Amino acid sequence: MSLRVEDWGFEVSQGGALVIGGVRAEALAREFGTPLHVVDESGLRRRASRLRNAFESAYAGQVTAYYALKCNNTPGIVRMTLDEGLQPEVGTPYEWCLARRLGTEPGQIMINGPNKGELLRTAVLEGAGLIVVDGPQELDDVEALCRSTARRARILLRVNPNSVPKGMNRASATGSRKASVFGFDLVSGEVSDALKRIAGSPSLHFAGLHCHVGTGVRRTRDYQRPLEILVACAAEATRYGMTVEVINVGGGFGVPTSRELDTLEFLLYQGIGRLPKPPDPREFPSIEDFAALVSEAIQRDCERYGLALPRLVVEPGRAIVSGAGVLLLGVGAVKQRPGVGTWVITDGAAGTVAFPLYYEYHEVFLCAAVHAPRSERYSLVGPVCFSADWIYRNKRMPPIVPGDVLAICDAGAYFTVQESNFGFPRPPIVAVRDGKATLLRRRETFDDMVSRDIGWSDGDEP
Ligand SMILES: Cc1ncc(COP(=O)(O)O)c(C=O)c1O
Repeated sequence: MSLRVEDWGFEVSQGGALVIGGVRAEALAREFGTPLHVVDESGLRRRASRLRNAFESAYAGQVTAYYALKCNNTPGIVRMTLDEGLQPEVGTPYEWCLARRLGTEPGQIMINGPNKGELLRTAVLEGAGLIVVDGPQELDDVEALCRSTARRARILLRVNPNSVPKGMNRASATGSRKASVFGFDLVSGEVSDALKRIAGSPSLHFAGLHCHVGTGVRRTRDYQRPLEILVACAAEATRYGMTVEVINVGGGFGVPTSRELDTLEFLLYQGIGRLPKPPDPREFPSIEDFAALVSEAIQRDCERYGLALPRLVVEPGRAIVSGAGVLLLGVGAVKQRPGVGTWVITDGAAGTVAFPLYYEYHEVFLCAAVHAPRSERYSLVGPVCFSADWIYRNKRMPPIVPGDVLAICDAGAYFTVQESNFGFPRPPIVAVRDGKATLLRRRETFDDMVSRDIGWSDGDEP
């Protein structure tokens, strides 16, 4: 099973070249240079509205969809998600600032994260719509902040459901009790203690419960057990006299065309270069399937406990932006080593612009000839003198020559937020739609790169 550019909704020109949003990828590379992030704006908007509609149609109660800014916080991209009716979920003071600058009122923002620092104070003072409280110490902190500032915070309790989606790398299993730091612990009674405490606190408004089991979830039923647990906690909360207004199932919905490597694949790939298999999009559930399972699970469990249907909240990132993003890389050199293999050296890879390539499968195409037979076997690397600067090992590709442009797919999620300049200016981001390209972020300049450095040249201000 091999992936085709049509799986992302992209097109192929008559001559066989990649076309995104009505513009040839190679033309974008020529105009804006490489590395270059390209955002298929219609694809992004389509995914956002489809996700929202899927949950709104499947669930019998109210739904609010948030967009997790951590996934891609490019202002122009966040703007698109807001236009499509999503609200911001933020995890850092910068993301809060960005959401506010984009015109979102505090009451529309949800905050989340295991160590919120200054963000917690801002959220309490300015009146965030929802504060997801991550553990007992943070509960103390929110309550103290509320008391000292005469505020009342609307909180969700993040529950660690001790539940790991099938095949998920332990490092990403945010719902695991052993492997992750997140949430209140059920087993040791932290959840029950917290619920009782909140019920007795005049400073805290209990809005409901939250969990997030990880990113790139590939089976709908991986949401079932965590939801059973959340609804059981909701039933417990009602016993302490509280109403559960919100059940937040987190984000994590995977995408059909990219996936995380499981632990064994990761070791074999990084250790001995054994290439993992691509995902098969035909085996992947649709967002409507995720919405159906989540909705049915909450509805059934609430009925069992005699609870009124709470508002369903989702906070995805990847499902909205991943497939809409493509990273274009220019090939600088092709290097053959007799008896060993052939390397293709590009101007970007894991060390600078594509860190997720280290632990996820992302398809790569030759922009000039996307359907050409993959007759060669290459190792594709980046420009950094660092041995982990890989794109692909042992990858079958059409013949590649210097000057070619490669397209790495599913580059919309967790790429730009994890990039580093490692001596190279960070790339621009361009949105394409109906044959028109609009710059969302210009390329970093050398001046940008030294703009925070002081005391090193004549004339700068210490
Ligand atoms: C608490 C929380 N919510 C939402 C998300 C978004 O997840 P995804 O991009 O997989 O939808 C994350 C990502 O790690 C998260 O930690």
